[in-house]
Amino acid sequence: MNNLRPVGIIGTGKYVPEKILTNSDLEKMVDTNDEWIVSRTGIKERHIAAPDQATSDLAYEAAIKALESAGMTGSDLDLIIVATITPDSSFPSTACILQDKLGAKGAAAFDLSAACSGFVYGLATATSFIQSGMYNNALVIGADCLSRITDYTDRNTCVLFGDGAGAVVVGEVPEGRGFKAFDLGAEGAGGSLLNIEGGGSRLPASAETIENKKHYIYMNGREVFKFAVRVMGTATIEVLRKAGMDRTDVDLFVPHQANVRIIQSAMQRLELPEEKVVVNVDKYANTSAASIPLALVEAAEEGRMKAGDTVLMVGFGGGLTWGASVLVW
Ligand code: UT7
Repeated sequence: MNNLRPVGIIGTGKYVPEKILTNSDLEKMVDTNDEWIVSRTGIKERHIAAPDQATSDLAYEAAIKALESAGMTGSDLDLIIVATITPDSSFPSTACILQDKLGAKGAAAFDLSAACSGFVYGLATATSFIQSGMYNNALVIGADCLSRITDYTDRNTCVLFGDGAGAVVVGEVPEGRGFKAFDLGAEGAGGSLLNIEGGGSRLPASAETIENKKHYIYMNGREVFKFAVRVMGTATIEVLRKAGMDRTDVDLFVPHQANVRIIQSAMQRLELPEEKVVVNVDKYANTSAASIPLALVEAAEEGRMKAGDTVLMVGFGGGLTWGASVLVW
């Protein structure tokens, strides 16, 4: 990527809905307890969308802030990518809904489905378009309303998820800065470990699919955990190799926020000290595609990155998929 036009992040924004669901609230809903949730996952609370909020509404709030911080308006955009597994509806895409709301007339707009890896997939896509000269300014958003696809009678999953959105404007940056490498991948054979079976062309919605709870997230937690620990390590090492760097070059590690134990295992493998790692899973839980941008934008707002710092983002999720990037801030 070294000889191409330098492309990086030029604006950031995030949004989480107001309502907070705590572990003690969940204790009243299913057979669980704060001690189990905190010790097994690190999660203390999560934000939940209001009944009249859909994914595009969360994405819009984050997008407005990202545009403002880039000193732009919707009309400056020529590409909008929304990474999500909870679009407002099957179609039109959530990106098209946003294109209209943001006044991004004529901008290309599409949704990207790579679950929790979606934001990094989106960054790689936008970067490639801009490096090729096809577009100049792209809005990349990770947004999900997981509360809408969570079974709040299933303690195995309902304690894990939350809602939110994170947005960045991707565009040309000064020489030496920007994205240095991406590593994207998938293991489709593991698709059934984390999925929603109903509502698609294989198993369309019916009274039976509703009765059998086929519209909620199913997850084999232990198997996904093993996959996560493995690919967090391998994808991180691979993306650093592609960037011509090693773990000692990393100033800030921004991992997908699914479980603090998965993050800790990556920290140990990469020998990263706590101050170089962003952890906010305690406040937001797993927000799927929103998780990495929420962590990145929060770190930026807290002044944890300075110009020239090397930021490593890495995510994994349904598909199964993974995505990692090295960015010079
Ligand atoms: O972003 C998408 C990727 N998703 C993930 O990264 C999730 C990856 N997986 C995980 O984070 C973990 O596997 C979980 C947090 C989902 C589960 O943790 P675990 O240490 O793997 O627990 P487990 O599934 O082995 O379950 C241990 C026990 C079980 O009881 P038995 O069978 O040992 O009697 C569960 O029934 O804990 C029980 N359990 C609970 N107990 C209280 C499961 N959920 C709960 C709960 N409260 N909420």
